[in-house]
Amino acid sequence: MKALVLAGGAGSRLRPITHTSAKQLVPVANKPVLFYGLEAIADAGITEVGIVVGDTAPEIERAVGDGSDFGIEVTYLPQDAPRGLAHAVLIAREFLGDDDFVMYLGDNFIVGGINDLVERFRTEGPQAQIMLTQVSDPRAFGVAELGPDGGVIGLEEKPERPKSDLALVGVYIFSPAVHDVVAGLKPSWRNELEITDAIQGLLDRGHRVESTVISGYWKDTGNVTDMLEVNRLVLEGIEPAVAGEVDAASELIGRVVVEAGARVEGSRVVGPVIVGAGSVIRDSYLGPFTSIDRDCTVIDSEIEYSIVLRGASLHGVGRIEVSLIGREARVTPAPRVPKAHRLVLGDHSQVQISK
Ligand code: DAU
Repeated sequence: MKALVLAGGAGSRLRPITHTSAKQLVPVANKPVLFYGLEAIADAGITEVGIVVGDTAPEIERAVGDGSDFGIEVTYLPQDAPRGLAHAVLIAREFLGDDDFVMYLGDNFIVGGINDLVERFRTEGPQAQIMLTQVSDPRAFGVAELGPDGGVIGLEEKPERPKSDLALVGVYIFSPAVHDVVAGLKPSWRNELEITDAIQGLLDRGHRVESTVISGYWKDTGNVTDMLEVNRLVLEGIEPAVAGEVDAASELIGRVVVEAGARVEGSRVVGPVIVGAGSVIRDSYLGPFTSIDRDCTVIDSEIEYSIVLRGASLHGVGRIEVSLIGREARVTPAPRVPKAHRLVLGDHSQVQISK
């Protein structure tokens, strides 16, 4: 079995403030969301991995390299424009050969990996294995309709009137039977070759499509509440590890990771918390479910249930909660008089100020 990972798409700056143009590199607990997918693929014993790349190919290639860090062998498959998920299968035809393959959307996050899915595909031998999850607004997804016996009877891409609340999760397993269907697909109303049409085509030809409903699922939508929640979920599973320096005046409680090259001085850290390499935490409090990325400084401040991205600094700013602080952002106290807030906010920023 091979894997096809989709990390293409047009480069766009993500809401609200992540500077990376590749949405697959948005960090969850200090690690790009794409890396969790590659780890899940490696964990399922799959080593031959094709990664579809578009405009942001250099960023993706810099981050993933030849795949050896993950124990996989990566072949990059350039796609000239984001012409759809099924188009990615089309251009990967030669790489995929006649093998079964896992197709994994690089911006999807699945709690618990894909071993069960792979196992089910191997024992039950359908032509396609899909995962579904209940969502509050199915119009933003591919939507599956199930028959009375629970079997998949139809699929629609981003329907205006969804027939169920079961969204297609971005991980699929296909047998080579999909290639015949993909070769005959026509672009949809949004001018893409849709993977939902490919799966529908398999059904129409009488092939078997199996589905599993899962619960731990996330996809970056620029929604900070969701991002903090998935950060929390991942941090809940971390193992404590202190490779950086923690001085005698500091106290670490619970699951705390201090990466090599990070320094914690005169601070209290209540896990789960991760402090990235090169960051300095001084005279501060870090509360549960906080990820501090690389090269950040937190001095004389308190922060909890938050994500701080690379190179940001908090200096003398009391207590911050439920926040996402962007790369290289500077948070400092205002001068005492006049008593006013001074803000330099990026596009689409959201700020809540205590009166
Ligand atoms: O995330 C789940 C959803 O993903 C499914 O419910 C939908 O059925 C499926 O069509 C897809 O919908 P999106 O419109 O959200 O997909 P998006 O354009 O965000 O692309 C998903 C990933 O695939 C993303 O990492 C970019 C990459 N991609 C996308 C296209 C269209 C490519 O590499 N090439 C492409 O041509």
